[in-house]
Amino acid sequence: MNILVTGGAGFIGSNFIRYLLDLSDEYFIINLDKLTYSGNLENLKDVKKGFSERYKFLKGDICDREKVRDIIKNYQIEAIINFAAETHVDRSIKEGSKLFIRTNILGTETLLSEGLSGNIRLYIQISTDEVYGSLGEEGIFTEKSVLSPTNPYSASKASADLLALSYFRTFGFPVIIVRSCNNFGPYRFPEKLIPLLITNAIEDKYLPIYGEGRNVREWIFVEDFCRAVYMVMNKSKLGEVYNISTGFQKRNIEVAELILKKFNKGKDLIRFVEDRKGHDWRYSMDFSKIKNEIGWNPGIDFERGLDDTIRWYSENSRWVKNVKSGEYLKYYEKYYGL
Ligand code: NAD
Ligand code: TYD
Repeated sequence: MNILVTGGAGFIGSNFIRYLLDLSDEYFIINLDKLTYSGNLENLKDVKKGFSERYKFLKGDICDREKVRDIIKNYQIEAIINFAAETHVDRSIKEGSKLFIRTNILGTETLLSEGLSGNIRLYIQISTDEVYGSLGEEGIFTEKSVLSPTNPYSASKASADLLALSYFRTFGFPVIIVRSCNNFGPYRFPEKLIPLLITNAIEDKYLPIYGEGRNVREWIFVEDFCRAVYMVMNKSKLGEVYNISTGFQKRNIEVAELILKKFNKGKDLIRFVEDRKGHDWRYSMDFSKIKNEIGWNPGIDFERGLDDTIRWYSENSRWVKNVKSGEYLKYYEKYYGL
């Protein structure tokens, strides 16, 4: 199967490409990525070497209609999996929402409308629990819950979901939506909570916690998420939405304390800082639909995933240094001629 993976140089996309190519030799993957600050070709160095016949990287923007059209035609693309997005809530608040609207909504529209003219058998939109909005201490979201996003990032993701579903209903375009809770694991950009806390703990820097740290997130190890997407690719019904979550819910302060414990460092490294504007209190999703219909269950518990993640960041200090210093941005030109 020829698959167009978008945003494959980012955190989940790069893990997914590696997962899929490792698993089966029936896939040929085109990775279309704009290489924004969160895309990093270093995330795929081993993939480029190990799977050169079944993997090709193309630098480009999912909003570039002609490029998307040419790729679908020239590589006889049969499936599109759209990971590409602007993903950081804080940036959507502090730096403006325009780029989020452009990539997350207009980019999705480009893939959907160009996909219509190709021979696409499957389109998976990678979405998030954040489209449902914020919960208090009680409650859980199902796939039928009302979408009620609260920040520019989640509003742009919710818009993309609705647009994608409209393409299924109107044109019979083969859309499936997967909504995930917070992923963690190797190659996550250290502006997000878990990699930021781990890399700061390694360097004895303060661990910044918003507000009182009592907000709750639900966590999934990235390999478990990749396995869920793979199972959805092969077993699910078109036009459906699937929540992918685990029940591993933690307050942010608990995550910080656990990380410090793993490093044998004191809680005095925690620094409470100004809260995020409109900070969603808690996310929680019911995953019984994917469990009952597809047979997926989380396989890696939070602490085991955290141990693996800590080990990866500890063993990959060069990657961390290059990302934190911005050095990786120079690789594109130097090593890849981009
Ligand atoms: P990421 O920020 O690590 O990667 C995003 C990738 O998209 C980068 O490689 C970037 O260069 C690329 N990109 C951005 N704009 C582009 C454009 N216009 N054209 C082509 N490529 C572009 O993000 P991630 O954490 O890997 O998330 C991947 C997807 O999963 C996103 O759609 C996100 O909304 C969704 N998601 C993520 C999480 C999570 O916890 N990470 C949870 C739920 C849903
Ligand atoms: P983040 O990793 O940005 O993911 P999201 O907001 O998409 O869930 O943040 C996870 C939680 O951690 C969220 O409640 C905000 C909080 N947080 C901090 O307390 N300190 C930080 O430095 C960051 C980046 C996030």
